[in-house]
Amino acid sequence: MNERLAAIRQEIMNGIEERATSRATAFELRKQFMDSKTGKIGQLMKEMKSIAPEERAAFGKSVNELKEWAMQQFAELDEKMKAKELELRYEREKIDVTMPAEEKETGNLHPITQVRNQIIDVFAGMGFEVFEPKEIENDYYNFTALNTPKDHPARDMQDTFYLSTEFLLATQTSAAQIHAMETKNIPIKMLAPGKVFRSDDDATHSPMFHQMEGLVVDKKITLCDLKGMLDVFVQKIYGEGATTRLRPSYFPFTEPSVEVDVSCFECGGKGCKLCKGTGWIEILGGGIVNKKVLENCGINSDEYSGLAFGIGIERTAMLKYGINNIKLLFESDLRVLKQIDDN
Ligand code: DAH
Repeated sequence: MNERLAAIRQEIMNGIEERATSRATAFELRKQFMDSKTGKIGQLMKEMKSIAPEERAAFGKSVNELKEWAMQQFAELDEKMKAKELELRYEREKIDVTMPAEEKETGNLHPITQVRNQIIDVFAGMGFEVFEPKEIENDYYNFTALNTPKDHPARDMQDTFYLSTEFLLATQTSAAQIHAMETKNIPIKMLAPGKVFRSDDDATHSPMFHQMEGLVVDKKITLCDLKGMLDVFVQKIYGEGATTRLRPSYFPFTEPSVEVDVSCFECGGKGCKLCKGTGWIEILGGGIVNKKVLENCGINSDEYSGLAFGIGIERTAMLKYGINNIKLLFESDLRVLKQIDDN
């Protein structure tokens, strides 16, 4: 009998040595010996009944000793396996804080959005509020109310996409001027960034592009106010030294109308390729709101006057970032877009 106990003892030692590699296998091994029903030591306990009474006490003592020894062994084994697994886990989860971080690519805003936001920032700083223009307009708001009745030659300046006899795709954000004057109280200082559409397509024109309309209506508004505001605008967008020059022009909805040039920010006015040797670059149109337009909106033109301007956002972005083809702004080529990140 003692040999049997010694064999079990040996078996446990071998098992611990050879098979217990993890907590799970150690548990299995323990079960194999200690389980009260199926375990080898458990079985010995059951055999107690069949042992001759005079040997029973000695047998019981030996089995108990074995059992206690085995429990001790398995407890130690479990501790060892726990420590081993913890170590493995530490190894696995080890973080080397000196490793260079994996580079994460972050996107940036589209150049058109960047320039749009920059322009809004400049004018918001002068007290302008943003007003959302419509993309679908009717003839009245896009043309007639802006002093461009049917048959007016100025309608030819913009090749319009008509949706029906009444509705069209907005050709200019100027229509927002009318909506603003109809719904807002004077003084008005609004900025309307929006999409406009014209049947026009070449290196500097796209059938859809973006404009930023500006409108101020108050008492005693003059061209000086327009020039003052636009000087601030060009300094913030094109650089501190930039200034503007106003040239007479024509728009039906302003009188007088001006074409606004910025001093060339590339050569500082000496003359270069960008400004075609003139020292000036045309950037936007504007003027004093035509009295007829004020009257169309029910505003007394003897008491109030206004200034208006329209900025092409693509044109501003192209000049600012040296982009020579408008298509580059619509092709979503990341190699181009990644280079422009001013935000
Ligand atoms: N709407 C004009 C265009 O699209 C731009 C413009 C010119 C807007 C003069 C204005 C303005 O508000 O006063 O060509």
